[in-house]
Amino acid sequence: MQSPEDPPLAEKIQADTAHSARVWNHLLGGRDNYRPDRDVGDMILKLFPGIARIARLQRRFLVRAVHHLAAEAGIRQFLDVGTGLPTADNTHEVAQRVAPASRIVYVDNDPLVLVHAQALLTSTREGACDYVDADVRDPAAILEAASRTLDFGEPVALTLLGTMGQIPDSDDPASVVARLMDPLPPGSHLALSDGTDTDEALNEAIAAYNENSASSYHLRSPDHIASFFDGLELVEPGIVSTSEWRPDPADAHEAARAARAAGADGPVDAVCGVGRKP
Ligand SMILES: C[S@@+](CC[C@H](N)C(=O)[O-])C[C@H]1O[C@@H](n2cnc3c(N)ncnc32)[C@H](O)[C@@H]1O
Repeated sequence: MQSPEDPPLAEKIQADTAHSARVWNHLLGGRDNYRPDRDVGDMILKLFPGIARIARLQRRFLVRAVHHLAAEAGIRQFLDVGTGLPTADNTHEVAQRVAPASRIVYVDNDPLVLVHAQALLTSTREGACDYVDADVRDPAAILEAASRTLDFGEPVALTLLGTMGQIPDSDDPASVVARLMDPLPPGSHLALSDGTDTDEALNEAIAAYNENSASSYHLRSPDHIASFFDGLELVEPGIVSTSEWRPDPADAHEAARAARAAGADGPVDAVCGVGRKP
């Protein structure tokens, strides 16, 4: 959390520059953002209206993947890195609806997410939630802090939803994923989703975002994103567009509504998957 040597939170928050977590919050229709976040979010929407659908479908993937992990794979521990600002159906709410004793550790490096972390710590009495202020590029620090809450002798589900796209190739995202998965025991899982470089208008919108934001996002090919699952057994249906991973009737409704709003239909330019460590 905030240590005495850190600069004041207001200084770290940088309300005068767009930040990833707050732009994402704006795209999801949230209110935890500032004018520069809304301006940059609206600029992306203008260049690529389908981004709002990508954001909503990524949250729906979180719900379906965490529900699958808790209800079908029997996972009781979750490490959610790149959590984002709290919204409806956060990881602990989905997991603890299935299994109230589930233990969840949230990790993000955005100071405003830290300010709102209290809303992520509303655990059931049987379970536990913790929040760690850390950078995904420091797996050792994350795993050490998470070990206060999670037992690494038992399977853990690592969720990286829209997180590895924040990491440039120069920081070797594949090795970051591998270092987070390495100490987790067999039966652990990875759920990951990210935007793809498969639409010219989206590529241009993200290039404009990168020029106008404190951080940057890196769209990748579906094959490149699939390589983050190397060494894991993919759960059906494999790596697919986020609109197509085990859709349920509520998602079909949401997909149709969002598609109508965005004037678009079919798969989105984002892929996701769930893999099991053998
Ligand atoms: C696109 S949002 C996704 C939020 C959420 N996972 C979701 O799917 O709705 C990306 C999140 O990753 C966080 N993030 C960006 N770079 C990060 C880093 N280096 N370490 C940890 N978190 C990071 C941002 O602060 C933001 O909350």
